[in-house]
Amino acid sequence: MDNFIYSIPTRAYFGRGQVANLGSAVREFGGSKVLLAYGGGSIKRNGILDEVLAEFDKEGIAHVELSGIKPNPRIESVEEGISLYRQHGCDFILAVGGGSTLDAAKAIAAGVSYSGPVLDLLTGVAAINSPAPLGTILTMAGTGSEMDAGGVITAGEDNKKLVIMHPELNPRFSILDPAYTFTVPALHSMAGCADILCHLMEQYFTPESGADVQDRMNEGLMKVVLEHGPRILANPEDYDARANIMWASSMALSGFQLLLGKPGFKFPIHYLGHELSSLYDMTHGVTLALLTPAWMRHTVEANPDALAVFARFARNVFDVKQKDERAAFEAGIDALIQYYRTIGMPVSLEAAGVEEERLEYLAEKATENGELGILSSIGKAQALAIYQTAYRQ
Ligand code: NZQ
Ligand code: ZN
Repeated sequence: MDNFIYSIPTRAYFGRGQVANLGSAVREFGGSKVLLAYGGGSIKRNGILDEVLAEFDKEGIAHVELSGIKPNPRIESVEEGISLYRQHGCDFILAVGGGSTLDAAKAIAAGVSYSGPVLDLLTGVAAINSPAPLGTILTMAGTGSEMDAGGVITAGEDNKKLVIMHPELNPRFSILDPAYTFTVPALHSMAGCADILCHLMEQYFTPESGADVQDRMNEGLMKVVLEHGPRILANPEDYDARANIMWASSMALSGFQLLLGKPGFKFPIHYLGHELSSLYDMTHGVTLALLTPAWMRHTVEANPDALAVFARFARNVFDVKQKDERAAFEAGIDALIQYYRTIGMPVSLEAAGVEEERLEYLAEKATENGELGILSSIGKAQALAIYQTAYRQ
């Protein structure tokens, strides 16, 4: 296991009614005038916005609203948020929503302390310096944005997904009330499960490193997602299932604790998936479910050492019994695809509406900034092969 430093600056208020801590938490972190960021209006319909405003009133906290942040959030929302924050003299940002709203709020937090275009911070032209303080109220589990230091913003004519990352973009606090996720539609709830599972897999599928604590924790979290996702599908108001999925989301990317002491912070499946979101505005978690089995098949052919990792995954996560490594690997992929079917994810790019003639473009875009990969190197030709395998599987 390699050396590492572990530090989690985000305070989690987990459970029913934790919104009662909102006002004091905002005050504690210096907020008196808040930029309140949210999405397309679900928090108005399910009553969460009223609860937030009541807590602001109790503490005498003023606020300005930024609404309409879309899934796969665009840079224009970020720019709007930066000018609102400056114009109204805000001193704190509260994001109430799913990963898209949280990510937009992170980019706003970074942008308000930079005089140039925020795109510079997303492309690495300029460094992030002293972002504004940020808190979150999570209303949809999946991305881990509530506990991590990153965000993903869509920009430009080609809708490129750009990653922003800085230790001070970890929220100061996150309020995690599982009951707030009862109203998330089935597709987004299950795409969230696919996203959590992929975060876990991307940190598990690395060269052997001897980091057994991280890998055994990871296997346990993967089993939680396998068990509780279908429970949510059966009963969207199953509090314990929602609670376990929400905490699994947070634990999966909490300071990247499952990757500590391990090589690689690469997330190749994510980068391949982002291109599907860029071209088709596809839901993030769906892209990952579509590509993971094909990525595994490609990787095991490119690097025979990957077979042992995938076979261990199949045995320890899906309880596959096959002794032969190759047979265990195949049974693991079958079980993974079956899980995706159970939670309603499309099983092929074709079924998801992707046009076969666009696969080459996707491969070009996915690798335009260099090769991807952790257990194998993925250039354009390999990316194309993965998309082709995922097209009809
Ligand atoms: O916009 P509203 O009206 O709120 O509706 C949203 C949206 O339509 C709805 N929703 C959320 N909470 C709800 C609800 N509907 C009813 N009741 C509720 N309680 O769900 C829809 C999807 O929301 P969104 O925020 O887009 O979903 P998600 O949390 O999956 O976020 C996806 C974004 O996060 C990025 C993705 O790339 C994508 O842009 N990611 C961020 C990461 C990070 N910051 O670390 C890592 C991830 O790998 C991912 O890349
Ligand atoms: Zn993800």
